[in-house]
Amino acid sequence: MNALTAPAAPLVALKPATPRAMTRCECSGTPFERVAALVGQAGLSEAEARQRTGCGSTCGACIPDLRAFLAARGLR
Ligand code: FES
Repeated sequence: MNALTAPAAPLVALKPATPRAMTRCECSGTPFERVAALVGQAGLSEAEARQRTGCGSTCGACIPDLRAFLAARGLR
């Protein structure tokens, strides 16, 4: 038996990667905690807080996770 005739190693099933929720806007560098503070403590609307920080103003990919982040803290 040589390398060409040896049985192949069993295949290992890989778990699919689980995407993790964003915790900051990557485009503006704004942590969602900053937006949450503006909404929860300063009383701004989500839109006002996003406008003030730039969160969500470029690609928008962070907006769903931002909204989930705020909702989990009772801020929506
Ligand atoms: S990640 Fe927030 S606008 Fe792009």
